[in-house]
Amino acid sequence: MQHFNTIIGNNIQVAQTILESGEVIGIPTETVYGLAGNALNEDVALKIFSVKNRPHFDPLIVHTHSVSEIEKYVTEIPDKARLLMRSFMPGALTLLLKKKSLIPDIITSGLDTVAIRVPAHPLTLKLLKELPFPLAAPSANPFGYISPTTAAHVYNQLQGKIPYILDGGATTVGVESTIVGFEGDDIIVYRLGGLALEEIERVTGKIKVNINTASNPKTPGMLKSHYAPSVPLLFDDPELLGLAKTENKTIGTICFNTLVTGLNYSTQILLSPAGDLNEAAKNLFAAMRKLDTSGLDIIYAVKFPDEGLGKAINDRLKRASAK
Ligand code: TXA
Ligand code: MG
Repeated sequence: MQHFNTIIGNNIQVAQTILESGEVIGIPTETVYGLAGNALNEDVALKIFSVKNRPHFDPLIVHTHSVSEIEKYVTEIPDKARLLMRSFMPGALTLLLKKKSLIPDIITSGLDTVAIRVPAHPLTLKLLKELPFPLAAPSANPFGYISPTTAAHVYNQLQGKIPYILDGGATTVGVESTIVGFEGDDIIVYRLGGLALEEIERVTGKIKVNINTASNPKTPGMLKSHYAPSVPLLFDDPELLGLAKTENKTIGTICFNTLVTGLNYSTQILLSPAGDLNEAAKNLFAAMRKLDTSGLDIIYAVKFPDEGLGKAINDRLKRASAK
């Protein structure tokens, strides 16, 4: 693979020039940082897969700057999709829609639907408006690891592999977009994410959730083990926590707004002392990274309230704990 002197900057023109030359770069979104390239070019898509070390069966999300742009890449937009677009785009929502043939098959791993979204980040929206093509962008982490929420996270893991990282500050949502598809009259959620289920249901009424794991996953964010730190992570398992304590393991914790009792407080992280689940989601991945490099034996994560973004937080922690 080609070696680059990776630069972090906030120059949209530089980003545009590099993307138009067929290279891939890091870009900010409101959810997590993406590893972006020309979504209409098969060779660029291959580069994304290889930089990320991602299996080709795991399709990519296409990013555009507006709902009207989406029309260029899909054959039909169900009424319910239009309703969601009107309500939540730009935002942390990805829709699965029937693709036109100008989206290469490699982008969708051969599926006839394309995952598409309009990210709510000013810098990236501006960049998308300048570009003559949409951007395919998976989260900018090596496959299976924690998603990056700052430009520095991207740099730490992909330096040398990409020429540029567009720095748009720390992401404001902190977990990946919610992925939604349409079957007949049904709206189905395939990945819990930065747009809360309750928000969607407020405009659509009750919807279905299908986030079960499978060996050939429909959405591989659904892979059982994903978003994982290198240090073993225990999720909501007081018994194993007790065992780890008796074995004198060094333990760090990920908590909501109260510490776990009986443990050294210096390695415990409160994601939101104020008890705000949106703030907790925003801080989740940075906390996982911090604890992963703190020389611990074990990371222990508590279960978050099962509502709002707490659902996405619990989903990520569960996958992070899976082996
Ligand atoms: O917030 C996000 O969605 C971030 C930012 C960068 O936009 N992107 C992101 O991409 O999380 P990635 O590649 O890490 O996760 C995309 C998920 C994968 O689980 C993939 O399987 C699913 O989207 N996906 C993509 N295309 C699909 C399709 N046609 N049908 C079903 N699932 C699809
Ligand atoms: Mg990802």
